[in-house]
Amino acid sequence: MTQTVFITGVSSGIGFGLAKEWLDRGARVYGISRRAPPGLAEQPGFSFASVDLSDLKAISPAVERLLEGVQRLDMAVLNAGIQGDIGDMGETSLENMRLVMDVNVWSNKPVLDALFAGGRQVGQVVAISSGAAVSASRGWNAYSMSKASLNMMMKLYAAERPGTHFSALAPGLVDTAMQERMRAVPADARFASVERLRKAHGTPEMPTPEALAPRLLDAMERLRALKSGEFGDVRTLH
Ligand SMILES: NC(=O)c1ccc[n+]([C@@H]2O[C@H](COP(=O)([O-])OP(=O)(O)OC[C@H]3O[C@@H](n4cnc5c(N)ncnc54)[C@H](OP(=O)(O)O)[C@@H]3O)[C@@H](O)[C@H]2O)c1
Repeated sequence: MTQTVFITGVSSGIGFGLAKEWLDRGARVYGISRRAPPGLAEQPGFSFASVDLSDLKAISPAVERLLEGVQRLDMAVLNAGIQGDIGDMGETSLENMRLVMDVNVWSNKPVLDALFAGGRQVGQVVAISSGAAVSASRGWNAYSMSKASLNMMMKLYAAERPGTHFSALAPGLVDTAMQERMRAVPADARFASVERLRKAHGTPEMPTPEALAPRLLDAMERLRALKSGEFGDVRTLH
C-alpha cells in the first residue's frame, strides 16, 4: 500500500531531503512551508500548500484544504523551525522569542488538530527537535525553550491519542540554511556552541540533508520501539 506522509517545512533542508527520499520510495507526500520546494511540485505524488506558520489562525484551514479526502496518514513530520537570534536572554527581544515559539511550538497545535480533523487516522507523528531541547547552551534562548516545549507537546498529545505513536527526534547537525545562518553569527566567546558548529561544517559530523534522509527514516522506524511521546536522538538511537 502507498505510504502517505505529511511534512512541515518542506521547502529546504531536512524537510526537503525527507520529501525527496519518500517520493523516491513511492510515497504520497503532502508538504507545507512558505516557499514551494524547488523541483518537487512537478513530481507525481507530491502536493503542496504555501502556509506561513507564524500566522496561527491561517494554519488549520490551509492544512484541512490540502488534506481534503485523505483518510489516513502513515507519518506526519513536524519539521519546520527557525533559530531566532543568538544572544543572552536579557539582550534578546521578546518579539523575536515569541516568533520562535510561534513557529517552533504553537503552530504545531493547529497543524496537529487539522491532521486529526474529521477522525483522520495518523499512524506516527515525529517532531524534529534538537539536542538544544536539553543542553541549555548559552545564547540559544528561545530556540532551546521552543524545542523543550515541543518535546513536552509530543508527550501531552501521546497521553490523549493512544492510536498514534508520537515522538520528538533530534536529527544531529545537518548542513542546511539554518546552519549557514549560524555560521554568519559574529564570533563571540560567550557562545562557544556556535564555534563548535563552525568547526563541524564540511566534516562527517554535519551531513547534507539528502545524505541524512535515509538514516532519519530508519531512526523514525526505531522510534516506534520507544514509549509514545518520548524524545530520541538520531546519534544515539540504535
Ligand atoms: N540543521 C541542523 O543542524 C538542525 C539541528 C537540529 C534541529 N534542526 C531542526 O530541523 C528543522 C529543519 O531545519 P533545517 O535545518 O532543515 O533548516 P532550513 O533549511 O532553514 O529549513 C527550515 C524549514 O522550515 C520552514 N519554515 C520556517 N519558517 C516558516 C514559517 N513561518 N512558515 C512555514 N514554514 C516555515 C522553511 O520554509 P519557508 O522558509 O519556505 O517557509 C523551511 O522549509 C528545524 O525544526 C530545526 O530546528 C536542525
